Amino acid sequence: MKNKKNYPSEVYLNGNWMPPQEATVSVFDRAFMFGDGIYEVTPFYRGKPFRLQDHLDRLKYCLGEIKIPFDFSILETLMFEVLSRAGLSDSDAAVYIQVSRGAAPRTHYFPDDPKPTFLMYAFPAQLEKFQEKRWKVLVSEDFRWQRCDIKSTALLANTMSNEEAIAGGFDENLLVRDGYFTEGSHSTAFFVSDGTVYTHPEGPHILSGITRKLVLEMCRDLGVAYKEEAFLLNNISEVQEIFLTGTTTQITVVESLHTEGKEIYTSQNGEITARLQEEFARLTRASQ
Ligand code: PDD
Repeated sequence: MKNKKNYPSEVYLNGNWMPPQEATVSVFDRAFMFGDGIYEVTPFYRGKPFRLQDHLDRLKYCLGEIKIPFDFSILETLMFEVLSRAGLSDSDAAVYIQVSRGAAPRTHYFPDDPKPTFLMYAFPAQLEKFQEKRWKVLVSEDFRWQRCDIKSTALLANTMSNEEAIAGGFDENLLVRDGYFTEGSHSTAFFVSDGTVYTHPEGPHILSGITRKLVLEMCRDLGVAYKEEAFLLNNISEVQEIFLTGTTTQITVVESLHTEGKEIYTSQNGEITARLQEEFARLTRASQ
């Protein structure tokens, strides 16, 4: 089912606060023409950012990879300001940040003197009850580019895949490249087989999820065996648990997996996922 989403009441665009209907950018903005921009989504649990430095580091890495200059000096302060102006300082929420290369006469090469477009807004996020979610997931071919480590606004392949899933009555996709599961259309994938947690290694075929990193830390701390190894679609019969992670997905159980009209996996025993969810809930709420 398609969730209805609302616009925020206010956005921050290039140094100014304004209602979204007044926030406009040039038709020559390179994000409009080429998807030439980077974005980041940071969660705030009751007003407290979670893993903020990791999110800022990833934003810095991605902007660096595509050579967009950006001044980070007041970003953190602005993130708290956007939250408080939206009346979300005591709620569960997330802050969306987007930096594009800005407007320039259309060329495939980068302009020499870019004037980046900086957009930010806060939105309420449902960060409770993730343990109750059970997702029905569609297997889709991963036809994205070879730099999925860059959190680019050019998400057409992700949105096409996810549209197919949602329109078909599913909750998310699991993407497969060369026979191996890579990740979800907007989440990281984990598989549990014989007590070991598997997830795709970092590199150009996945986004280095902040929640992924946390899950691996939790595995280490809880003494749960894990391997950063890609899992084969053909080995799905060896899987007892699948879960998906992300900033707003948190740790969500995959109830069933489908391809070509067939159910190829049904959740059996969620023991390890439940332990990780419990620890995740504890850590995200720890300082409150
Ligand atoms: N999506 N992989 C992809 C392709 C993603 O888009 C996301 C997050 C993740 C999980 O990353 P993290 O744990 O750092 O949120 C993995 C965000 C939230 C989005 O597009 O809205």
